[in-house]
Amino acid sequence: MRVLIMQEVSPAGLAELEGHELVRGSDPSGCDGVVCYLIDRIDEAFLATPGLRGLATVSVGLDHIDLAAAERHRIPIAYTPDVLTEATADLTFALLLGAARRLGQSERYLRAGRWQSWSFDLLLGTDVHGKTLGIIGPGRIGRAVARRADGFSMRVLFAGRDRSELERVLAESDFVVVTVPLSESTRHLIGAAELARMKQGAILVNTSRGPVVDEAALAESLASGHLGGAGLDVFENEPHVHPALLACENALMVPHIASATRETRDGMARLACRGLAQILRGERPPNLANPQVWPVEAESR
Ligand code: DGY
Repeated sequence: MRVLIMQEVSPAGLAELEGHELVRGSDPSGCDGVVCYLIDRIDEAFLATPGLRGLATVSVGLDHIDLAAAERHRIPIAYTPDVLTEATADLTFALLLGAARRLGQSERYLRAGRWQSWSFDLLLGTDVHGKTLGIIGPGRIGRAVARRADGFSMRVLFAGRDRSELERVLAESDFVVVTVPLSESTRHLIGAAELARMKQGAILVNTSRGPVVDEAALAESLASGHLGGAGLDVFENEPHVHPALLACENALMVPHIASATRETRDGMARLACRGLAQILRGERPPNLANPQVWPVEAESR
């Protein structure tokens, strides 16, 4: 079996594909399987490649894959749920704390040699403990963030798909964390109107996908002083960051690293590659993203 590896995969992952012929690049022609990442665009033409029998993405997000086309072409997809939940929740909480306590600004201030003396009102932030946390997206990662909030005695509110629930959570929360997957229904879910509903001085954290938040509206809200801060791991047009956001001192921003720990990335690589090996052996993997294509009939190819 020939497997196309589209980006670097750790040895722990590749070990799961032992016995397969591995090729590097972006052209799936002649390959039985593919291992991709969220930066690879997997469109209809890609999925229609003759002989392609399965795909693994080393991600929990699936928005880079045309899922409807995968269903039409009966291509099973292995992905990486669960294994990155805790690391992503850790980074989400780190951004929340960092934005609340102005860690980015404080470090820039110190490194610039501007620190002259301790002072009573230097870089004042806002308390986290005892505050209200709104979680938009009550999935695995949202619930893991809630467990961390419990340790800070926070009141936790959840919003799912219900619009009135979303509006209530936005209006009542001191911190709002966005953990929904990107789809047509969540694109710009948080726009100017939603930001305006948030409390004066509230903090928004996004570790889901950039396009869930309207970046231009967010930058405007931060610059106007309506929002107190933001913690961002993801951006609308990665790796490009909106210049208006870069100009906001109160935005704490990191380059899409929520799952970037050695242990978690190895776990993701292993899970994805193992899932693909199972698909290519004709076994249903436990981490199948599109169970509706299973079992794949030989005659459907
Ligand atoms: C994912 O897996 O979708 C994250 O965004 C990167 O780990």
